[in-house]
Amino acid sequence: MGSIQIKEDIYWVGARDWNIRYFHGPAYSTHRGTTYNAYLIKDEKNVLVDGVFKPFIGKFFETLGEVIDFQEIDYYVVNHVEPDHSASFPETMKRLRDDVVIICTEKGREGLIEHYGDGYNFQVVRTGDTIKIGKRTLAFVEAPMLHWPDSMFTYVPEEKLLLPNDAFGMHLAVARLFDDENDEVVIMQEAKKYFANILTPFSGLIINKLKEVTEMGLEIDMIAPSHGIIWRRNVVTIIEKYAEWAEMKPRDKAVIVYDTMWDSTELLADKIADGLINEGIDIRLYKQSVSDRNDIITEIFDAKAIIIGSPTINNVILPELVPLLEDLEGLRFKHKIGAVFGSHGWAGGATKRIAERMKAAKIELIEEPFVTKYVPDKETLDEAYEFGRRIARAIKEKNQ
Ligand code: FEO
Repeated sequence: MGSIQIKEDIYWVGARDWNIRYFHGPAYSTHRGTTYNAYLIKDEKNVLVDGVFKPFIGKFFETLGEVIDFQEIDYYVVNHVEPDHSASFPETMKRLRDDVVIICTEKGREGLIEHYGDGYNFQVVRTGDTIKIGKRTLAFVEAPMLHWPDSMFTYVPEEKLLLPNDAFGMHLAVARLFDDENDEVVIMQEAKKYFANILTPFSGLIINKLKEVTEMGLEIDMIAPSHGIIWRRNVVTIIEKYAEWAEMKPRDKAVIVYDTMWDSTELLADKIADGLINEGIDIRLYKQSVSDRNDIITEIFDAKAIIIGSPTINNVILPELVPLLEDLEGLRFKHKIGAVFGSHGWAGGATKRIAERMKAAKIELIEEPFVTKYVPDKETLDEAYEFGRRIARAIKEKNQ
């Protein structure tokens, strides 16, 4: 029925959320839905690992109930407190034995109490701690900020199985759970989008965590995250991708994002794009109001240049572009250069404000904002083309 055996006596007991279109409130678009992956390990001691988001609690209990009597569960590992995994915690606890042991980090304990109250039987673990559950062992690796302070990985050495919760995950609802059963292009795209939009600010921690796990010598032949597919064919690939993405090394690519009121800023965007293309630069061009912000960020993630254009309205930026500027500041991309453009009528203001926001996002502005009044004439459009060519040359000259 709903459960899927992923290794001998180890089951996926999660839920598929086919219809979710935004995650983290409205912050993250999930065009392809998501899954909330929970797992059950059956041994001399039976272990439940993680849970599901609130709307799927009933389905989760149905699936879990197929493979075990709730009263036979001995340990409940909470790798991460965020409600997409822990919303089922209180209802689950009502169904488990009173002496069930909840395994989590100290921050996990604090987070669970803050979300659901106290009175539970916690066992706090740290990196290096292990629990023997029969022929298998649970080993724990704290992973703070991947994705919350409470996060940890659970590792089962006898199975070479890593359960890292959010890390290595993606928002993708799938019928078949394993990477080799799905379109590789899609899963890598969703994994990259997840990293770019959620994990980028923690890249330094990811580099250190990968180094730590490598030094621990963990043998891994399966990574079973809490969202999306389970890695078994591409284990090495996704670890290498994480190492690469965490370095944030951009390639010779530019992303132009703009919006427009009466087409003038759009005319500039088009000419700037031509200048870049004719210099051989790979570009993406987005009108923000008809584009998905998270998809744009995924393209910005590995681009060297970000070029943002807006007309001025009431002395400020066209509001559609503001969420992107907020994201750029929050995500803290590295090694990026930038430029700004836009048209205005009787008074400017938007390009200056965008430039300030890009500087706050630590994007190195390589040109003064390119500004035109009302409608750009032929000469101005030629200048916009040259503006694009100069940005292209700066891209090629920038080493990092
Ligand atoms: Fe999937 Fe950070 O929760």
